[in-house]
This record gives sequence, structure tokens and C-alpha cells, in this order.
Amino acid sequence: RHRLLLENAQQLVLVCGRGEEYLLREAAASLAVLRDASLVVGLDGCIKAVGQADVIRNQFSGATFERIIDCSGKCVLPGLVDAHTHPVWAGDRVHEFAMKLAGASYMEIHQAGGGIHFTVEHTRKATEEELFNTFKHRLERMRRAGSTLIECKSGYGLNLETELKMLRVIERAKQSMDIGISSTYCGAHSVPKGKTVTEATDDIINNHLPKLKELKLSGEIHVNNIDVFCEKGVFDLDSTRRILQAGKDIGLQINFHGDELHPMKSAELGAELGAQAISHLEEVSDEGITAMARAKCAAVLLPTTAYILRLKQPQARKMLEEGVIVALGSDFNPNAYCFSMPMVMHLACVNMKMSMNEALAAATINAAYALGKSDTHGSIETGKQGDLVIINSSRWEHLIYQFGGHEALIDYVIVKGKVI
Ligand code: NIG
Ligand code: FE
Repeated sequence: RHRLLLENAQQLVLVCGRGEEYLLREAAASLAVLRDASLVVGLDGCIKAVGQADVIRNQFSGATFERIIDCSGKCVLPGLVDAHTHPVWAGDRVHEFAMKLAGASYMEIHQAGGGIHFTVEHTRKATEEELFNTFKHRLERMRRAGSTLIECKSGYGLNLETELKMLRVIERAKQSMDIGISSTYCGAHSVPKGKTVTEATDDIINNHLPKLKELKLSGEIHVNNIDVFCEKGVFDLDSTRRILQAGKDIGLQINFHGDELHPMKSAELGAELGAQAISHLEEVSDEGITAMARAKCAAVLLPTTAYILRLKQPQARKMLEEGVIVALGSDFNPNAYCFSMPMVMHLACVNMKMSMNEALAAATINAAYALGKSDTHGSIETGKQGDLVIINSSRWEHLIYQFGGHEALIDYVIVKGKVI
């Protein structure tokens, strides 16, 4: 008895490779497409078999399945992985969108007390229940657009009380929803009003991180990653180093915002500290790119942010040529209100000049790598988790080629073999 059989898919996109062996450079070779293929997910939620339809039919001739989906004329792809989101918050910033369209920059709004500060004010006031309900709804929309594993950050509390409230909300979704979550403590998202950078850094290191360690030991909240917004006027390189190192010391993976608006040498720092991933990198240096390639530190590129803030595009081509593991994220937040990884892949292709193969690898196996989960997620391989997307088109590239309206293109989203 098995959980799921997908039969006769017109195309089944494998995205081969595992963990560190897999570099996006090799995506063209590794992105095998099977024709007339079938796939079986076992009761444990993992992929049991994948191959030509007739072979699978013979192999499982006597077997029973809880669910069978005829995929004739359709394509099966790995579930998408969103490597960077800020999905827990109250209020929105639609008014700031108008200000930005009228010419205000992201940092001007931030320094005037808006931006992250605005969201912090509203998130501090919101109840845990309110935050959970909006968060759940957002996760459902992301999943509807094909995301099955999502990195979720705190970072709109800044004080311990509200950061923990956000992390509890994320933990609750982890336990109760059919979706993969990698959680990130991002208490260093902004320097709270009334504090200096040093005071904020000390507070995080002396109060926040020990509490996270305690909650992990008691099994209440299990955080996966540590993040800092390393930026001019926010956390400088030195405080970033102190916070990331302290996070690493309590067992968190380093995964932070760097080199976005100003060149900060964040990439060099991340490579030195053994960061799993660094996000943004619009202003990364050549040395930083080389260091990241050598350290196998993933670059999480965020095409929605560069688009909406009209920033210089991150140099995806150069990173790929240098052998950096390039991943993608939606950066969903009140500034970049985008739930859709298909839209993100589309923008990556048009604005960052990635190929569709590269974009798909970046939104699956490489994004899983950025979260330290490429052994279990991000590709269709026997033994990996049965997270899948089925589109009603005969060529998989339609998932990227079409922009907007993906709800009508995506027939099914599947998590651990369970059809959502
Ligand atoms: O990744 N750059 C810093 N953090 C977010 C924006 C968060 C916000 O503006 O609320 C980002 O773009
Ligand atoms: Fe971000």
C-alpha cells in the first residue's frame, strides 16, 4: 500500500543532485526531463520510485494506492522552495508604495521612522492569534503558487517579547500545517528606536540568544537560522559578525541579509564565518563572489526587491560563472508583497538573465541547499520527500513563461505525498 501514484506525466522534471555536489552551473546537465513518466510516494511521504510509466506499472502491478492522479498532458516538477520570506507581521505598507512611486527611497522612509519601524509598531500590538491567522493565510497563498518549503523570518519585534511571539507563531505553523518551514531568528533586522547599534547587539547576544537556546532545549521553539540586516545605518560589519558568531555558537545556521544597498563586505564575512547563505548581494564585491564560491555559501537572490526598489540587479551571471550556488527567494514582506515563486523565477530570467533551467534549479535544489535541506528536499529523487507541483501544460517551462495567474496553471500542490 502506497500513498500516491502519479501516472503518465507528459514531462517529469527531476532536478538531480544532492547537497554540495550540486552547483547551479551544472543545472543544464542535471535538469533531466523524463517523458511519459510515473512516480510513487510511499506512506512515509517519501518518493519510492520514479521512471518510465510502463516500468513503474510493472513494478507496482499488485500495489494499492490511496490516491492516483492521471497526469496525461501535464508536467510534474519538484515542489518550489522559497529561500527568504518575512511572512509574520501586522499592518501593511501600501501607503509607502505610493511614497516610493513618488520618488522616496527605501532608506529615506526607514530613517524617517517608517519601513520596518512601522511594521514593528503594528506587530508589537498584534495578538499571537491575529498574527497566526494572517500568517497561515499567507502560507496557503504561497503553497497555492507552488511553494512547499519556505524559510520564515521573525524580525518585526526587535524586543525579546515580540520576537518570541513571532517565533511561536512560526513554530505553531510548523507543527500544524502541511508545509515545510525553516525558521529564522531575525532580531537584528533593524536597530530599535531609542537604542544604539551596540546596545541592540548586546541585548541580542546577552538576552535573546540565551533564551532561544533554552527554548530549544525545552523543545518549545526550534529555530533553524540566524539572520542580521548587515547594512549601512543598520547593523555594521562588526556587530553583524558578533551576532552571527553568537548564533552559530548556539547551533543556528548563518543565513543573513548582506550587500544590498551598499557594499559592506558582507559576502566576505559570511564566507569567513561559514554562512550557509547570504541574501540580496546587489552590491557584492568581486572578492566576495569568489569567497562565496570557495566557501560553498549560497547566494539567495531576490528579484522582487531589486524590481520594486529599482535597485541595480544582482549579478547572477557572474555568480554562476564563478561557481556560486545561486538560489531564489520571494522576500515576501510589507515592502515586496509577492507570494509567488513562479513570478520570482520569471523576474530572475528577464531581469537577471538566468536561463529557465537555472531559475528552476535556483528555486528548488539550490534554495533547499540554502536552508541546509538539500538532502531531503528540492528535487525528485527516490528517498527524498514527496513534495511536488503538477501543472496543466505539456511543457514545464510554462511555469516560468507565464507571469501572473498561476493558480489556473497549477493543478495540484503535493506535500509529503498528500494532495493539498
Ligand atoms: O529583505 N532588507 C531588509 N529586509 C527586508 C525588508 C523588510 C521590510 O522592509 O519590512 C528585505 O528586503
Ligand atoms: Fe529580507
